[in-house]
Amino acid sequence: MLVTRRIPSAVLARLEAACDVEMHDRGDLSHEGLLQRVQGKQGLLSVVTDTIDRAVIDAAQALKVVSTIAVGYNNIDLAAARERGIIVTNTPDVLTEATADLTWALMLGMTRRIVEGDRFARTGQWTGFALDFMLGTDLRGKQLGIVGFGQIGQAVAARAAAFGMRVAYTSRSMQPSPLGEAMPLDRLLATSDVVSLHCPLTADTRHLINQTTLARMKRSAYLVNAARGSVVDEGALVWALENHIIAGAALDVYEREPEIHAGLRALDNVVLSPHLGSSSIETRTAMIDLAARNIVAVLGGQPALTPVA
Ligand code: GLV
Repeated sequence: MLVTRRIPSAVLARLEAACDVEMHDRGDLSHEGLLQRVQGKQGLLSVVTDTIDRAVIDAAQALKVVSTIAVGYNNIDLAAARERGIIVTNTPDVLTEATADLTWALMLGMTRRIVEGDRFARTGQWTGFALDFMLGTDLRGKQLGIVGFGQIGQAVAARAAAFGMRVAYTSRSMQPSPLGEAMPLDRLLATSDVVSLHCPLTADTRHLINQTTLARMKRSAYLVNAARGSVVDEGALVWALENHIIAGAALDVYEREPEIHAGLRALDNVVLSPHLGSSSIETRTAMIDLAARNIVAVLGGQPALTPVA
């Protein structure tokens, strides 16, 4: 099998006990490199930055399973995999709580200006306490609008009561939930004080947040994105922030990672984290372990533990 990133030696040893393993352990594997190295492999253990398109699937005539160390799988051409009977697995559940925590860290960091304050403090600009200094915004009593109400969206909602926020959500199914009020996207955008994105990236959600939808938000509202960069039209977001159409944004994901739009980097009312949603020691360990178990199961003729729908 091919492993596209360095993984812990204990997991590597377990994989090696099950089959031959080739590991790419020096940063990103280029698409060209992936095309070449996937040839003849039955398994592919991959990450979110590997583009597993039809060309890769075509090049991998022996491939039986793609196991991605991520919950999102928009980087994998599922139709091409299905045509060849290749099983695709992801790592749901194990990263839900860590990603929800990161979302709240972004939300609090942005509304209480922690990152801006850190920059200020480090650069020696702080001259002393003042009653009107760097005032943020309370979350208590406000509405959190969650777009996409799967495991992560619900885990974000479950934390809202602790901060005194009421929850509105929109999802494909619009199933009722004790965690909040289901409402159409337009109403959610118009009434929420923080809008947090937790939907997968699909043809339907690409640029769901654009000039039109941003203009529906309150001028005092904040946008949080710990889902996928392309759910937001970054150019439109820069426009909205520069023109005070919304109050601020906190982002963990970007349209062209690791590149970040210069307009976003220039603004103070934006918190930027470098795709850290699931990046705690415990969670990454659990993700890598689950992905490895998926690949070993399929190559051993067993059903996958967490195949994608
Ligand atoms: C990370 O972005 C993931 O989808 O798990």
